[in-house]
Amino acid sequence: MSHIRDRFHKAADKQVAEFTASVACDLRLYPYDIAGSIAHAKMLAKQGIISAPEAETITRGLESIKEEIEQGRFQFKTELEDIHMNIEARLMEKVGEVGGKLHTARSRNDQIALDLRLFTREAITKTLAGLKSLQKALVGLAEANREVIIPGYTHLQAAQPVLLAHHLLAYFEMLKRDAARFGDCRRRASVLPLGSGALAGVAYDIDRDFLARELGFSQISQNSLDAVSDRDFILEYESAASLCMMHLSRLAEEIILWASEGFGFVELDEAYATGSSIMPQKKNPDVAELSRGKTGRVYGHLMALLVTMKALPLAYNRDLQEDKEGFFDVVDTLLSTLAVFTGMISSLKVKPENTRKALERGYLLATDLADYLVKKGETFRSAHGIVARLVSYAAAKNKSFAELSLGEYREFSPLFEEDVSAITVASSIAARDVPGGTAPKRVAQALAAARKTLEEP
Ligand code: ARG
Repeated sequence: MSHIRDRFHKAADKQVAEFTASVACDLRLYPYDIAGSIAHAKMLAKQGIISAPEAETITRGLESIKEEIEQGRFQFKTELEDIHMNIEARLMEKVGEVGGKLHTARSRNDQIALDLRLFTREAITKTLAGLKSLQKALVGLAEANREVIIPGYTHLQAAQPVLLAHHLLAYFEMLKRDAARFGDCRRRASVLPLGSGALAGVAYDIDRDFLARELGFSQISQNSLDAVSDRDFILEYESAASLCMMHLSRLAEEIILWASEGFGFVELDEAYATGSSIMPQKKNPDVAELSRGKTGRVYGHLMALLVTMKALPLAYNRDLQEDKEGFFDVVDTLLSTLAVFTGMISSLKVKPENTRKALERGYLLATDLADYLVKKGETFRSAHGIVARLVSYAAAKNKSFAELSLGEYREFSPLFEEDVSAITVASSIAARDVPGGTAPKRVAQALAAARKTLEEP
């Protein structure tokens, strides 16, 4: 029977033991749990709470447990509830009674808070690297297709021409904000909770600043009750992950559309597409679809933890154990989505012959024609009306703007002259020469700026 049941006369009911155990899930915290314990033992020795040889013995024991886990030799036991007690019990088996000194001036409540913060820090480092790789892939695709123009859409109706690079850089911006959010989250996760004990602090002369330095934290928590029950850093990660998945999902949706028959703007690499079990002609964008689909479960985990926490009185409550499964799934889902997405974008083939055709369909230059009339003295509102009538005339005749004669133009306004033929897709994008606009010059600057940010460490 586990020592935390010493006051009881009965073993836990088997179903209860299974119901309350978390080791199947939290065993992945072992590297953080061991790192935290080693720092704690070192601090206890430095403060004279345990002896230096005792700390040595404990540290060596913990290191060999780490090896056992890594080599798959460690026997995790459900009846020992969680990762903390599994490691502690094994430590006592290995080093004897002295192992029992490790938990001096500590509780599982500040221990789990520590493990989770260490895990979060590392998850953020990996997330930032994943974001950067995807940003590089987007910039690479944009650079390789600098000249390609696509219809820009509003309401998914062809609106005005834009450079494909400009469109891709929109996602670069979203990911830049995501990275900033994860960076923020890291600052708040980097606070040492150890030393808070079960809830009230500990009755030993410990050195929390030493622990913070040992474990690479920039600050120590200021209130023990808060420190053992705070999971804001997980919620922040999950919120930032939800936003990031939303961005990936939007891009996934565009890739699905662009790869469809109707658009045909891109072709997926075979390594990033799947076939159909019945329709041999299919090349399906399942990576993009699954990325879009997985967004829902990430939102779900965020909502689940917000709800779990909303009525918890201070301080630790066992409900908090429910934080982990969802959190680990959020981290795994985001990291794997970022990784496959990067491969999918890097191997995407753009089909300019199809984007060109799409530019000819629809009346993408309508705004440019209105702007033309404005420059000749018409007010924008009446120019808008003239071009609207022109569009409906051309559509009825099944003609593009380029196919209309000057005579036909002039039936709608005498301001139309020979130079109306100078309005092209190229002149349209070149005219959007404002900071943040799609003019090739501006986009080239944006691309160079993006490259530069990516080279920063
Ligand atoms: N497995 C627990 C959790 O994940 C660790 C802390 C348990 N503390 C306690 N007093 N039962 O939250």
